[in-house]
Amino acid sequence: MVTAGPTREKIDPIRFISNYSTGKFGYEIAREARRRGHRVLLISGPTNLEPPKGVRIVIVESALEMREAVKRAIKKADCLVMNAAVCDWRAHSASRRKIKRRTGKRVLELIENPDILKEIGRKKGDMILVGFALETEDLGSNAYKKLREKNLDIILANRHRAKSGVFGDKRVDVLMVDRHGKRTILPHKSKAELAKIVLDNVSNIKI
Ligand code: CTP
Repeated sequence: MVTAGPTREKIDPIRFISNYSTGKFGYEIAREARRRGHRVLLISGPTNLEPPKGVRIVIVESALEMREAVKRAIKKADCLVMNAAVCDWRAHSASRRKIKRRTGKRVLELIENPDILKEIGRKKGDMILVGFALETEDLGSNAYKKLREKNLDIILANRHRAKSGVFGDKRVDVLMVDRHGKRTILPHKSKAELAKIVLDNVSNIKI
């Protein structure tokens, strides 16, 4: 199972909170997994990407919808690659009507979304879990902390740079950390190349 893309958290029927995720990396992983003969379910937030051939796809919008879709299918999965950029917050109460313009300051109250990967990690059993981390600082220590907290087998971390960013980038520098703390730097790789590396590492995990 692969998740990809951003989530959108409604503010009113017209507006939402989201992030710059394009979903490309997750779609590449789903495509490569299918190429290797796996049965693949791709749970995707809104993207502009063509779904890979032969992959079953479920499109969701919000973090809560993504959590539902993941939980519904997780029992059949032996590996989850959680590439989605899930919004950490949602509006406390989305308005059913368009919020009209008004002069002066406006406050939007946010509440926390569930951490889907952490919930799955709590009872993962033999399932292989791959997570991602996007950081602006302390890449290595933050990645390892997330790997431990979410009970992951592998985490891929990259740094967000103000100039180049990472979203939609053609080539990226990634740090891969496994559950034994082994760190591998993967410099200047395309997302298709990284998808192969991720899946090679997944198949090398001995349960
Ligand atoms: N993730 C998730 N549910 C969330 C937030 C994140 O399942 N509500 C998953 C992401 O898909 C990713 C991993 O957790 O695989 C790490 O996501 P990231 O946003 O880097 O980390 P957070 O745990 O949200 O921590 P922070 O935003 O504080 O860095």
